[in-house]
Amino acid sequence: MAQVETTLTTDELRERVDRLPRLPLGHLPTPLEYLPRFTQAIGGPPVYIKRDDCTGLAFGGNKTRHNEFLIADALEKGAELVVWGAGVQSNNCRQTAAACAKAGLDIHLVLGRGKPADGPDLVQGNLLLDHLVGAHVEIIDGQVGPEVDARIAEVADEYRQAGRNVYEWDRYTVKSLAAVSYVLCLVEIIEQAREDGQLETRAGGWTPQAVYGCSAGSTGAGMVLAAAALGAQYPVRHVAPIVWPWDTRADMAKIATEAGERIGVDASFVGDDIELFEEFVGPDYGVVTPGCLEAMAVLARTEGILVDPSYSGKALAGLIDHIRSGRLDPEEPVVFVHTGGTPALFAYNEVLSEQIAARSLAMPADQPQVTGGC
Ligand SMILES: Cc1ncc(COP(=O)(O)O)c(C=O)c1O
Repeated sequence: MAQVETTLTTDELRERVDRLPRLPLGHLPTPLEYLPRFTQAIGGPPVYIKRDDCTGLAFGGNKTRHNEFLIADALEKGAELVVWGAGVQSNNCRQTAAACAKAGLDIHLVLGRGKPADGPDLVQGNLLLDHLVGAHVEIIDGQVGPEVDARIAEVADEYRQAGRNVYEWDRYTVKSLAAVSYVLCLVEIIEQAREDGQLETRAGGWTPQAVYGCSAGSTGAGMVLAAAALGAQYPVRHVAPIVWPWDTRADMAKIATEAGERIGVDASFVGDDIELFEEFVGPDYGVVTPGCLEAMAVLARTEGILVDPSYSGKALAGLIDHIRSGRLDPEEPVVFVHTGGTPALFAYNEVLSEQIAARSLAMPADQPQVTGGC
């Protein structure tokens, strides 16, 4: 883990973040809940879940936190219109569109249907919600990443030429600002764990042995920065939902370094500082994997908590795999950050109903265990 010159307390770190403009959007702090039945079903160390699926703003998720800083930045820059984009079932776009509605900004979304999970254009899940909150939606036959980004830049230029003041999704500037919001998420986790008494044997509070979440970008980068700033001994581990066509570790390290600059934390990260696991993506982004189906079923049926097939479900599959392969201490608490994504469940209705019909959405005791990742 990267070293910082002087480590900070949670209060000091929070105070640094509080200096940046911020639009309150979230229901924060989100709860940190112990999962006794899930822990037992998986046979693991005590598993806690950080409920960032409960951040509010059109069904919650990690982009509520991101948008507190991004939309505040857009408003500071006098923007009247946001041009944004990703895949057809993008949680990011749904939550950004909702944030724009609340802030009184127009939004044009460029949605790429390049991946199997994104088509056909079923007006369901996130896409339905994009329409409901009033986004102007443009669907293109391009991939999430460089192709969608190129169209975003084009559309933003068209609006500028028409005299509009545009806030454009530009990954090189915007990502580190989004990351700042996840510094606060880790601060919340550490404060909540310190005070936690949900588990009798840990009544005096605890420190996680590791924090797991779904990220290949800002969310994880922010938590890595926070862990370094707090002088943490525990790793922050990221299960990727997608394999980007660039060096994701180096990208996340850069985002973390730049986020540090924004809040006055002098820390420099390199790719090797990022613990990223890309093997749980499976055949492709958005394609449901056996490990993910198992994770979805076990969490839902032991705790009544839902995860989605593209993001939080794959991340939870990664955590389950690490528990089963003995990568984690069997006694020490581990935290899973639930980054949301649940509206996409409704766009996967056919895949999921087939799996339920075939009984592959089963608990570990009902069927041979699925091992070896996704
Ligand atoms: C539900 C959910 N979790 C996690 C992520 C990963 O976020 P990032 O890679 O920006 O950190 C996303 C991204 O869209 C998401 O929608």
